[in-house]
Amino acid sequence: MKEFKIAVIPGDGIGVEVTEQALKVLEKVCKKYDTKLNFTELKAGGCAIDDCGNPLPVETLEKCKKSDAVFLGAVGGPKWDDLPGKQRPEQALLGLRGGLGLYANLRPTKVFDELKSASPLKDSIIDKGVDILVVRELTGGIYFGEKGRKEVDGIYAAYDTELYTVDEIKRIAHCGFKAAMKRRKKLTSVDKANILESSRLWREVVEEVAKEYPEVEVNHLYVDNASMQLVRNPSQFDIILTSNMFGDILSDEASMISGSIGMLASASLREDNFGMYEPVHGSAPDIAGMNLANPLAQILSAAMMLEYSLGMSEAARDIENAVDVVLKEGYRTGDIYSEGAKKIGTKEMGELILSNI
Ligand code: IPM
Ligand code: MG
Repeated sequence: MKEFKIAVIPGDGIGVEVTEQALKVLEKVCKKYDTKLNFTELKAGGCAIDDCGNPLPVETLEKCKKSDAVFLGAVGGPKWDDLPGKQRPEQALLGLRGGLGLYANLRPTKVFDELKSASPLKDSIIDKGVDILVVRELTGGIYFGEKGRKEVDGIYAAYDTELYTVDEIKRIAHCGFKAAMKRRKKLTSVDKANILESSRLWREVVEEVAKEYPEVEVNHLYVDNASMQLVRNPSQFDIILTSNMFGDILSDEASMISGSIGMLASASLREDNFGMYEPVHGSAPDIAGMNLANPLAQILSAAMMLEYSLGMSEAARDIENAVDVVLKEGYRTGDIYSEGAKKIGTKEMGELILSNI
């Protein structure tokens, strides 16, 4: 029997409820493949601030480092919104990404057939098919660059710096091209090379790396144009390769195309396949603890973990198929509900997925 150590960070708000469902699914599917997952529950985010005053306790980061993968719910909530920058729950995410070296963030967006009507885009746009993977650089750029406050000509000011090294661009570009090779072999690199020097370097390096993947069709878009193209004709995209901040913005926009952010999973990875898996949605404090949250994004994040970090693609497919079946049968949580469907809660959705594994 195979065994893996999984660091579980339920976090705050609905993170707690949705991870509970996803862990049950993981246990069941792994049993089928004679694999045991040893879960260690850890604190990060708002609950850790309440507990010990630190959004990312040293113990949490250390135990994550010793695990085979990290499975995270969501962090944050209004209770901690007024804290200064370094003490906010979001700092836990940045600390985990940076501390674990997870430089590649994969955010797939697809329109689930059964949920087409949830998309805010017209049928004529969606019908051409939407299946995009945003590959976002996650440990560099303006998120991690030099920042501070100072006086400029006697006036108080603040600054953040966008800086990318050639190596940082290279490794994320390879990740984007490798992903493209497994998909439709089309990669769009997004930058702001008409203005930013860091983007000009980005473009040069992506062009260099592209030579190693002659089968992949490459184009470059400025970020403003890319954000417009995403709603005008999302079917043109396969891989979107971009920087930390542009990826933050474009992945939210892309996720909305599916109309159901409660369905979208994400992975943050490094070369050795170690990764952190979390839903794209946040902690949704307004519905926390009410059995209303959609656990499917968390459950699909579990599938990504099986696929990328644990080498269990078949088990991942089992989960994805179970999700398809349950949607086809017409079961919906409130966020993806439409008339005529069967409305259910978080736990019921978890149970239904379990019974289809
Ligand atoms: C995301 C979030 C985070 C980010 C925040 C919460 C730090 O928006 O994962 O997209 O900006 O990266
Ligand atoms: Mg974001």
